Amino acid sequence: MSWLFPWRRRRQPPEKVRPDIRQAAPEPATETSGELFLDAEAAQRPIDLSGELEAGAPPPDRGRALQAEVEGLLAKSTGVAERALLTELRRGLRRGGLQLPPMPQVILRVHRLISSGDFNMQDVARQIELDPALATKMVGIANSPFYAGMEPAQSVRDSIVRIGMLETRNILMAIMMHSRVFRVPGFEELTQELWEHALAASVTTRSLAAQVGTDPELAFLAGLVHDVGRAVILSCAGDVRRHSRGQLQPDPLVLEGVMEFLHAQLGAIVTDSWHLGEDLATAIVHHHDPAGAPEPVRRFASLLAVGDELAKQLLRSREEGPPDEEILAARIALLGLPPELAGDIFAEASEEFEELGKVL
Ligand SMILES: [Fe+2]
Ligand SMILES: [Fe+2]
Repeated sequence: MSWLFPWRRRRQPPEKVRPDIRQAAPEPATETSGELFLDAEAAQRPIDLSGELEAGAPPPDRGRALQAEVEGLLAKSTGVAERALLTELRRGLRRGGLQLPPMPQVILRVHRLISSGDFNMQDVARQIELDPALATKMVGIANSPFYAGMEPAQSVRDSIVRIGMLETRNILMAIMMHSRVFRVPGFEELTQELWEHALAASVTTRSLAAQVGTDPELAFLAGLVHDVGRAVILSCAGDVRRHSRGQLQPDPLVLEGVMEFLHAQLGAIVTDSWHLGEDLATAIVHHHDPAGAPEPVRRFASLLAVGDELAKQLLRSREEGPPDEEILAARIALLGLPPELAGDIFAEASEEFEELGKVL
């Protein structure tokens, strides 16, 4: 829990302000359309994203819904490479054999331990130590300027103390996403962009979460995995190219269209397979359509949608300089946050992005 470790943030976060969501936020000029917080009661309700899927409550059949979407696209598509990609996706979904990025056992066990609430630090450290490469990376990250304390962390246990338990889980996930999920041979540039966007969305969503009273570490996790469906589609495109000996390669615009249309549903299927919880999966399905999210998750889907928008601004600002504060203010107004917080939220996220990017 990062608030127990004040040295983690070198920069003081902006003062927390509870949004008064009963004061109507101005209609912002944004691509993320629709009303996000639909009523005051919904916005105040706590949301629990920490649990595993409830026993006896099967998740919605996302595979079937996605299959219908793929069929719809196939019916309209004419390009040979595009049809080959969609056919490959359909084949995987029909057989239930879509190649989803596996969650390494060590990370799954750490996640389960932390989610169970029944663990001690030594249990978590022992799991991480089973993977020496991961253990070394963790200690290195704990000793990086972003987290560094007075004394160097010399063990995985020291590192967990320094980083915090929930953040340890997120750092492990980030290492896994960077080193395994966002690595698709033949699509290096696109996957690097996906990784940068994921990291940016993690820090923007976390900064926003701290302001609206949502668990910041769960927000970080959501930002990290929200577009993982894109990586699966790229991986499928890689398979098509390999099977056709390089003959079939969807045009980048076509690929972007397929990803845009399918990645949210597919992302939820991946996080289901990683047991990250039904609420998180539902928020991912609706991260481009938060107003369409079912009531208990709408607030979190909205947070993720705004985090996603700020992440795009953050990455753009690295090339083009700081964004117009009015644009940022319009984005955060969707969460009922006052405009004066926009600059601080953005600056905090930008600094975290640069520093975490160096160590991950
Ligand atoms: Fe997305
Ligand atoms: Fe995104």
